[in-house]
Amino acid sequence: MNANLPWWKERTFYQIYPRSFQDSNGDGIGDLRGVLSRLDYLQWLGVGAVWLCPVYDSPNADMGYDIRDYEKIMEEFGSMEDFELLLSELHRRDIKLVMDLVVNHTSEEHPWFVESRSSRDSHYRDYYIWRDGRDGREPNDWASYFTPSAWTYAPATEQWYLHLFSEQQPDLNWENEEVREHVYGMMNRWLDKGVDGFRMDVISHLAKAPGLPDGGNGSGYIFCPERFSFQPRLHDYLREMRRRCFTGRDCMCVGETAFVTTETANSVVGDGQELDLLFQFELMDLDGAETKWDVRPFDLSRFRTVIDAWQKAIDWNTLFWGNHDQPRIVSRFGSTATEEERTASAKMLATALYLLRGTPFIYQGEEIGMTNAPFTEESQLRDVESLNLLKEARRTGREAWAWRGIEAKGRDHSRTPMQWDGTANAGFTSAESWIMVNPNYREINVERAKRDPDSILHYYRALIALRGRTEALLRGDFTLLLPDHPQLFAYRRSWEGQDVVVLCNFSSTPAEIPAALRGRVLLSNQGTVDGALEPYGAVVTALVSKG
Ligand code: NOJ
Repeated sequence: MNANLPWWKERTFYQIYPRSFQDSNGDGIGDLRGVLSRLDYLQWLGVGAVWLCPVYDSPNADMGYDIRDYEKIMEEFGSMEDFELLLSELHRRDIKLVMDLVVNHTSEEHPWFVESRSSRDSHYRDYYIWRDGRDGREPNDWASYFTPSAWTYAPATEQWYLHLFSEQQPDLNWENEEVREHVYGMMNRWLDKGVDGFRMDVISHLAKAPGLPDGGNGSGYIFCPERFSFQPRLHDYLREMRRRCFTGRDCMCVGETAFVTTETANSVVGDGQELDLLFQFELMDLDGAETKWDVRPFDLSRFRTVIDAWQKAIDWNTLFWGNHDQPRIVSRFGSTATEEERTASAKMLATALYLLRGTPFIYQGEEIGMTNAPFTEESQLRDVESLNLLKEARRTGREAWAWRGIEAKGRDHSRTPMQWDGTANAGFTSAESWIMVNPNYREINVERAKRDPDSILHYYRALIALRGRTEALLRGDFTLLLPDHPQLFAYRRSWEGQDVVVLCNFSSTPAEIPAALRGRVLLSNQGTVDGALEPYGAVVTALVSKG
């Protein structure tokens, strides 16, 4: 008898970015009632859990990742009653709900920070990280994700505060026990409401290097993740959090562990006392160089190396091609050269990733092959990261470079509205939407995809179902096949004598299937499979046992 897998290993997750999912009240902004109206769709797709991006009260400097009140729903998104209804309707459909937890930082408008910045003597001063300057400059040389320096000066109290993200997102001081108590209390209240867990935003950054030492050698600001990732104290916090919040509950947590490596991963997921799952970003870094904006082409052998290393490094991976911080995968690693290639490559990419050992996380719109948006002007952008990049690039004369980066990788690509149908605004809203709708919505939308049995959408549904009913795909060991093949990515999943082989052609030319890997076809994105994979073809086969 096979022991049951925990639900968060068995189910397929679907990530919702509520601002862009479905507007219900005609203000151009997605909301909770909008999500509620689409639950039948999620159920039809076969989704077993939802990760809901932040829905908390926020001034939206970073679209909800700057929280003003952890226990209030953002007004544009609705009310706590709407939230509770959504939760119960999800549960009625046997879909779990995982919330975003953003506790590395708050909004600068959070009452703690408002108090903290008001006086050096404030009780809340120590809730954040305040330091004196050095010779009139920042306390150290750290760069932030979104701004040249990770420090902002507050003239009223003549000190600097740390922010690893925008200056509107001051970092909390996790050394302060009261801060931790507040966070655990808040988490427990959400769990008591019935939510099924948390996706933990940049959780690897909670602890900073003691003494906040410089990252470089004095030659300017330096982005130095080694100073604020995987510090020893991180493990104390995560263990404490788990003990205080998760004991006796059937919930899960997945950490956004920025800068995790195959060496550090097991320090947080190894013994089950910290995180259940982690997001690692090596696949997302495949097309970056010195910075993410220095775009380089996809390389199959690097992709294969990363997958193989991670499948071996930890027992259970998260499998994702996108999220609200990434461009659209079909534009990124697939092909949008023709409609045929978009369809084939979107299905192929899903096959390559979601049948690995791990839990799939599908990002909204991916299942219909939504593409990057044709942004050409700053006025179309909404994301603080892209806007700050442009501002800085203009100052240093690198605007063309910045635009190339934004066109390829700006976060707004994944934030354009979900394309539901071919009516005005893609059926997302009856008003002008908060960010432009991708003009290709008349061709690429859910309604059309539902009508076409060969659509990407139907393929995703079949893929999710296949994974769910195939023991080898759920539980099996992973073995990389054809490690040097120039076109094919191939692997085997094996469980109790059952072998399933996944073969994916990452190229735009046909590829022969080695005879030993031909078997009974379980799923394929091409009509017939006789010995060869078409451009961007994919096939999943059950190997017929010899003897
Ligand atoms: C990661 C989130 O996914 C991203 O959207 C956000 O900007 C940063 N963390 C800061 O919270």
